[in-house]
Amino acid sequence: MRHLPTNNMNLFFFFFFFFTCLTVRINLCFPNIFPLKTLELDGHFSFDHQVHQAARDFGNRFQFLPLAVLHPKSVSDIAITVKHIWDMDTSSELTVAARGHGHSLAGQAQAHRGVVISMESLKSPEMRIHAAGDQSPYVDVSGGELWINILHETLKHGLAPKSWTDYLHLTVGGTLSNAGVSGQAFRHGPQISNVHQLEVVTGKGDVVNCSKEENGDLFHSVLGGLGQFGIITRARISLEPAPAMVKWIRVLYSNFATFTRDQERLISVEDTFDYIEGFVIINRTGLLNNWRSTFNPQVPAQASKFKSDGRTLYCLELAKYFNPDETEVVNQVKFFLKNY
Ligand SMILES: Cc1cc2nc3c(=O)[nH]c(=O)nc-3n(C[C@H](O)[C@H](O)[C@H](O)COP(=O)(O)OP(=O)(O)OC[C@H]3O[C@@H](n4cnc5c(N)ncnc54)[C@H](O)[C@@H]3O)c2cc1C
Ligand SMILES: *[C@@H]1O[C@H](CO)[C@@H](O)[C@H](O)[C@H]1NC(C)=O
Ligand SMILES: *[C@@H]1O[C@H](CO)[C@@H](O)[C@H](O)[C@H]1NC(C)=O
Repeated sequence: MRHLPTNNMNLFFFFFFFFTCLTVRINLCFPNIFPLKTLELDGHFSFDHQVHQAARDFGNRFQFLPLAVLHPKSVSDIAITVKHIWDMDTSSELTVAARGHGHSLAGQAQAHRGVVISMESLKSPEMRIHAAGDQSPYVDVSGGELWINILHETLKHGLAPKSWTDYLHLTVGGTLSNAGVSGQAFRHGPQISNVHQLEVVTGKGDVVNCSKEENGDLFHSVLGGLGQFGIITRARISLEPAPAMVKWIRVLYSNFATFTRDQERLISVEDTFDYIEGFVIINRTGLLNNWRSTFNPQVPAQASKFKSDGRTLYCLELAKYFNPDETEVVNQVKFFLKNY
């Protein structure tokens, strides 16, 4: 008597799983992605076990497996793919996500059973720096380019982008879809305020240039648009002369009010630092151990005299750009620090 229900249960589970698998299989086949394989591209698609990398990101909290990953070699690869998906039966519900360096925290660059476009594969046309002429300098780069590579290339011309992120192993398309904030934003605005022009593949698969003057709506939607208004394939980024040297300073605070008062003052006064960033630190991050600041580096013990007693600390990170022959600037920095 007692065995019977168990057997029934086994049978039940067998059919349950059988039908679940069946529906899963049917669903998987439903968005018919096989025509993607027939598209004529400069780059290629990967499928099946080769798509796992696109289901991961820096946050490591969500893993949505796509059906296919496009590795584009040209802007037209992206346009052809997006157009193809746009033209598909709407019931396919196939989603598309551009993926930069995958440093999102919550799966933003993932596409659940959709198509991920791996932007770092897009290398052409090559990066082009415009240093000469009447206009202020700029660089034309692929949306999949890493900021660190832009820095290395532009420095060869004595130039650098005006606005940064702290961490530079992020793509142009990835940070321009958000904002791109660092210690220069108080002066130049975030990275999205330092773009002259974008080339975008729209949701219908058209390749369109946009700027404040031309297709302004698209331009302002795509910048900070969280990847929802089109795919940035190329960007024209504003440059400025790179500083020859930088005086880099960190100031520690245990009092929040003093910290914000100083930061606000330094941001608002004229002829201030070139880089001002404030952050909260926990006495655990190792930051205190690579301390280099207003304390004399010859006397590292001074830093350890600063007592947080386990509390949260605040840090102002400041930089002043200067040329080696301008000793004046260094004195000015000393003056600043004495007076704050
Ligand atoms: C260690 C670390 C340090 C960071 N430091 C800073 C910092 O100092 N300042 C700051 O502002 N941010 C910082 N961030 C946040 C970072 O700017 C964003 O997470 C950014 O989106 C990551 O860029 P990514 O190239 O990895 O983009 P992904 O994570 O790959 O993509 C991010 C979003 O942009 C979309 N996207 C990507 N490429 C394109 C494209 N070409 N066209 C349209 N949409 C696109 C994606 O679909 C997704 O929605 C940091 C993140 C990490 C992990
Ligand atoms: C976009 O602008 C660039 C540079 O000005 C140009 O080379 C390209 O052909 C333009 N693309 C379109 C689609 O108009
Ligand atoms: C940071 O924490 C360690 C261990 O708790 C402590 O010894 C040290 O004094 C703290 N440093 C500061 C600056 O408070």
